[in-house]
Amino acid sequence: MPKPLICPPELLSRDLVGTTYVVTGGNSGIGLVTVEQLAKQGARVVLAARRPAEGERARAAIVGRGVRGAIEVAELNLASLNSVRAFASKLLSVHDAVHGLVNNAGVMNTPRGTTADGFETQFATNHLGHYLLTELLLPALRRGAPARIVNVSSCYHDKAQGREGRIDFDDLHFERRAYDGWEAYAQSKLANVLHARQLARRLEGVAITTASVHPGWVRTNLIRHSIPTWVQDYVLRPALRLGGMIEPWEGAQTTLYALLAPELESGAYYSQVGFYREKAATKGGWPLRSPNPHAHDDAAAERLDRVSRELVGLA
Ligand SMILES: NC(=O)c1ccc[n+]([C@@H]2O[C@H](COP(=O)([O-])OP(=O)(O)OC[C@H]3O[C@@H](n4cnc5c(N)ncnc54)[C@H](OP(=O)(O)O)[C@@H]3O)[C@@H](O)[C@H]2O)c1
Repeated sequence: MPKPLICPPELLSRDLVGTTYVVTGGNSGIGLVTVEQLAKQGARVVLAARRPAEGERARAAIVGRGVRGAIEVAELNLASLNSVRAFASKLLSVHDAVHGLVNNAGVMNTPRGTTADGFETQFATNHLGHYLLTELLLPALRRGAPARIVNVSSCYHDKAQGREGRIDFDDLHFERRAYDGWEAYAQSKLANVLHARQLARRLEGVAITTASVHPGWVRTNLIRHSIPTWVQDYVLRPALRLGGMIEPWEGAQTTLYALLAPELESGAYYSQVGFYREKAATKGGWPLRSPNPHAHDDAAAERLDRVSRELVGLA
């Protein structure tokens, strides 16, 4: 595998005092490193966690290592529209302006499941929850402009274990087709890419820049529905590293670049090294043209926006 892409050091020493960032899934993996780096640079970071006790544990660990900024933990279950609304209303009652939103939390290859709102688990958690959160935080992001919205997608939006990423508008929740955990993941990660693309079009003329990113193949807890995390972390770790798996601090580089680079092509896709159908894309790129033709389909992006708005009850 090619070497991982690393942020220029000047971005990681930029002074962020006076700014507020929101990071979903901030208690673990890529999200945790993102929270820590932003706080190191002096930002106030809202660490959104499905399990607040885990969020507090992460906060204590980061603070123990020493940061200049502040970290607030708040409960957010993206698989529940009520939880997203409660999180947003609490956040807006405390923070007037938000300078960056990182839609990072996610699940991968889960068993078939339906949320309390009646949506397929991966589409709900990875896309619909973040869609509603973004809409509810837009006023604060406008007040924080210039601001950034970063969707953590995956190279699996292209192909996930052989399944091409595509949005099945006739069966978003796998009610008529056989459920496949990788197909559902690929659909949800393509939705992350199209969401960032469509937001950029909607926000033209507003100083809010959007991006979707692939963080790399990263040693985190994401694998847990496919193999036990301890097998990845201990038994297979050296072999997986040779195969291209990277550490969380390397996995956070693309998100941090998309948040902190002074110039960004809004709506574009930024990729760490990854697995793609086209070999040339393997080395990644900031930005990278996705090899998946569906990722460039503006009509699908616009339709996804409309359908998502209806599903989350904003239409
Ligand atoms: N690791 C990789 O190789 C890789 C590759 C490509 C893309 N990604 C993407 O990177 C992002 C971060 O994942 P990671 O690799 O850092 O994995 P991770 O360590 O498992 O972190 C995922 C985070 O999402 C949270 N989460 C899961 N379900 C949630 C829900 N319903 N509501 C709110 N938060 C929820 C988790 O909370 P809990 O701790 O409570 O479960 C955790 O904080 C994901 O979007 C993933 O798709 C990762």
